[in-house]
Amino acid sequence: MAAELRDPVRRMLESVLDDVRPLNAGEVASYIPELAIVDPDRLGAALASTHGVVHEAGDCDATFTIQSVSKPFVFALAVDALGLVEVNRHVGLEPSGEPFNAISLEATTGRPLNPMINAGAIVTTSLMRGDTAEEKFALVQAGLGKFAGRDLSVDEDVFSSEASTGDRNRALAYLTRSAGTLGSTADVATTAYFRQCSLTVNARDLAIMAATLATGGVNPVTDERVISEDAARWTMAVMTSCGMYDASGDWLVRVGLPAKSGVGGGIAAVQPGQFGIGTFSPRLDARGNSARGVATLELLSERHGLHML
Ligand code: DON
Repeated sequence: MAAELRDPVRRMLESVLDDVRPLNAGEVASYIPELAIVDPDRLGAALASTHGVVHEAGDCDATFTIQSVSKPFVFALAVDALGLVEVNRHVGLEPSGEPFNAISLEATTGRPLNPMINAGAIVTTSLMRGDTAEEKFALVQAGLGKFAGRDLSVDEDVFSSEASTGDRNRALAYLTRSAGTLGSTADVATTAYFRQCSLTVNARDLAIMAATLATGGVNPVTDERVISEDAARWTMAVMTSCGMYDASGDWLVRVGLPAKSGVGGGIAAVQPGQFGIGTFSPRLDARGNSARGVATLELLSERHGLHML
């Protein structure tokens, strides 16, 4: 039997990718120089069900750095370890309506508005246990590996590139440190954060990571519980309100799935209780979200009624 008849989900993904492929809007991220060295035409989408079945279409083996798609998963690890109240003492839960690299300090508390923008994500990473960047990053790497169901490694070239061009992120770390909300020194937090952003994944990994949230915290492929059900729910809630930065409201209306994008070209989206989707396409729109990834998820949602509301 032909592969597409055996796997209708794959056929559904392929048909959407065929329609999205001709779009060549957007630019590959270049503010981190090493990110510009990527084939801009890559396009892949994977869907992992909460039963652990993974369907793939297009470039699902192509690796790229996770970048900001790491943020909800590190938030999940932090709230799982420390509880929501403690994490929320350091970082807010409100959409900022601002770009990912905005200077974000709530006037009365000194907290960044949410853990999906850089300022908030650097604070979340700083809250991981341990005193050094190595200790904090080791927990991030092990935790994200459990979400993906395999060991994830650092792209050292991207890491060096991030570290040598990351002064705005350092500035955000110093600001939160001076406001009393950072959980470590600025250097420890940004070193761990740059390594976190430089972890390499593929679209299949992102689908499984998202599906681990969809199940309420159990990786459906490895059957390992990664975080508590509460931590998964809180994480999906923050992705819903803040995951696509200043496009979050638009996204919620058009696509209606909790999601998170990264400047490496990845997007992870969750249909709670049902499945996770991972997409990869490197060209970004003006808000720093993968242009064809957004189009893929919009079409999938529209054609197959995936909107959660
Ligand atoms: O901190 C940065 O600027 C990057 N390492 C990650 C930013 C990012 O992925 C924004 N997402 N669209």
